[in-house]
Amino acid sequence: MGEREPSIRIATPADEAIVSELMQRLVDELGPTDLSDKLRAKLGPDVAAALASANVHIFLAEVDGEAVGLSRGDILTADPIFRLRDDHRCGYVDQMYVCPAFRQSGLGAKLLRCCEDWFRDEGVNHALLHAAPRAVRFYAREGYLPNREMFKRLF
Ligand SMILES: CC(C)(COP(=O)(O)OP(=O)(O)OC[C@H]1O[C@@H](n2cnc3c(N)ncnc32)[C@H](O)[C@@H]1OP(=O)(O)O)[C@@H](O)C(=O)NCCC(=O)NCCS
Repeated sequence: MGEREPSIRIATPADEAIVSELMQRLVDELGPTDLSDKLRAKLGPDVAAALASANVHIFLAEVDGEAVGLSRGDILTADPIFRLRDDHRCGYVDQMYVCPAFRQSGLGAKLLRCCEDWFRDEGVNHALLHAAPRAVRFYAREGYLPNREMFKRLF
């Protein structure tokens, strides 16, 4: 952890460049795969759309004005598992990234909880995510459990 405690705020459209940069680092770290180039081309427009959407919050952690981590929460409005409930919305956590020098100090957990707090404030009472294998233990520690989902690559 750096000398100062990171502060966390909701990103705005003015943060598009730095959010895209951090998401790029996430893609680079979790890859590199044959998908990386295609994802790279889509990141900018995807971030711009997210920053303009009322159903998305991107949380940005900063130290002395330098961005050191982010998380993204989406409120999905047509959740397939819960669609028959009165409230069929679902919180979806995505694009969690903490710069290497700031890991292992609880910042990832704080960024995750920012998404959860926002979902809770919106009356959304469950959260879903797809964990990278290396992050499974981190999410499990934060209370995430494997559920019914199974995944098959079709081509
Ligand atoms: C996953 C990721 C976001 C976690 O960020 P982080 O800031 O290191 O998260 P935390 O510090 O809250 O927790 C990480 C670990 O540090 C430990 N930890 C938390 N606070 C701590 C502290 N004060 N002192 C020492 N260790 C601490 C946690 O127990 C946790 O242990 P684990 O690895 O066994 O789960 C970060 O590692 C990352 O960006 N990884 C690369 C991208 C990635 O995998 N993203 C997830 C895609 S699904």
